[in-house]
Amino acid sequence: MLKEIHEQPESLRSTIVPRIKNKQLPDFSTDEIPDQVFDNVNRIVIAACGTAMHAGLVGKVMMEKLLRIPVTVEIASEFRYQDPIIDKNTLLITISQSGETADTLAALRLANKHQAKTLSIVNVKGSSIARESDYVLYTHAGPEIAVASTKAYTAQLSCLYLVAYHFALIKGTISETDCMRQIEELQSVIPAVEKTLTLADDINKICETLAEKEDLFFIGRGLDYALSCEGSIKLKEISYIHSEAYAAGELKHGTLSLVTEGIPVIALATQSNVYNKMISNIREVRAREALVILITNGDSEVDSSIYDYHIALPKLSDNMAPFTTAVVLQLLAYYTSVHRGLNVDQPRNLAKSVTVE
Ligand code: G6P
Repeated sequence: MLKEIHEQPESLRSTIVPRIKNKQLPDFSTDEIPDQVFDNVNRIVIAACGTAMHAGLVGKVMMEKLLRIPVTVEIASEFRYQDPIIDKNTLLITISQSGETADTLAALRLANKHQAKTLSIVNVKGSSIARESDYVLYTHAGPEIAVASTKAYTAQLSCLYLVAYHFALIKGTISETDCMRQIEELQSVIPAVEKTLTLADDINKICETLAEKEDLFFIGRGLDYALSCEGSIKLKEISYIHSEAYAAGELKHGTLSLVTEGIPVIALATQSNVYNKMISNIREVRAREALVILITNGDSEVDSSIYDYHIALPKLSDNMAPFTTAVVLQLLAYYTSVHRGLNVDQPRNLAKSVTVE
């Protein structure tokens, strides 16, 4: 897993760079995805499982922001039995590392039956999901062996961003100039992820404390909430610590009752539009004596009384912070598992590819 975490600059480069062509704009011609795919699409449904579904949560925020059409993220095992409302004007995006997950494949088949357009983001070439989709955008993450998905997740994010930018250009909801600027920002993620990996020793030290805990919370808003979901599953998968991801504004509607002295709260505060709101939420958990691990985008000046540990990510635009945040969350899960003396690569009860229901 550690090897795969460290491969992310390369997997991101391989996934992003070949899709940026003339004038630094997204180009899917080598993927044989014609612009017409996006004609008449009035709704996007993303269906996936596990970490791939969490990538979809990030994709939804980005696509709705850029495209101004409704995007829903569906847990594939639910979607397939819910008689979903989809038709030829729906674009169904399935996301899968293996391309063989039974529920995701069933969601794709259902969409095909309803004549929706289907686009898959898949890592394994020639896999069932790739073969049965109208179009495929491959993540070039290389083989991923550890059960906990890491480099496939960030590669999936990069594909979702490219789809959002490309589609927005075609729809005219983004100007060429703005798109070029954002594509430049997307490329700046690669060195930023490299830099984030150098925080590994600091993160390792924090994990000595986390390894002794049995419950913890991840909180965030917007993109940070989507990342909280991924941080929580990653930690559960390999450290066996119970954790929950909460949209920070929801805490006071129930979960705050569980926040007591010493409970770790990993607070993601990378989004400037809700930064002050996040700080207020952190004060709420701090008042209950939670152990706060704060993650910010850049080294913003924060009142040091509200956290125990502060991880400052290399500064990126808000939209790009998910990539560096993901790396920190992966390292937190990894080192916590190591400190607990567990088998990081093959956690109990879990399989890398779930090809049966
Ligand atoms: C399994 C793996 C997860 C993965 C999920 C979906 O549960 O352990 O890491 O996110 O399946 O797999 P897929 O291959 O469709 O991305």
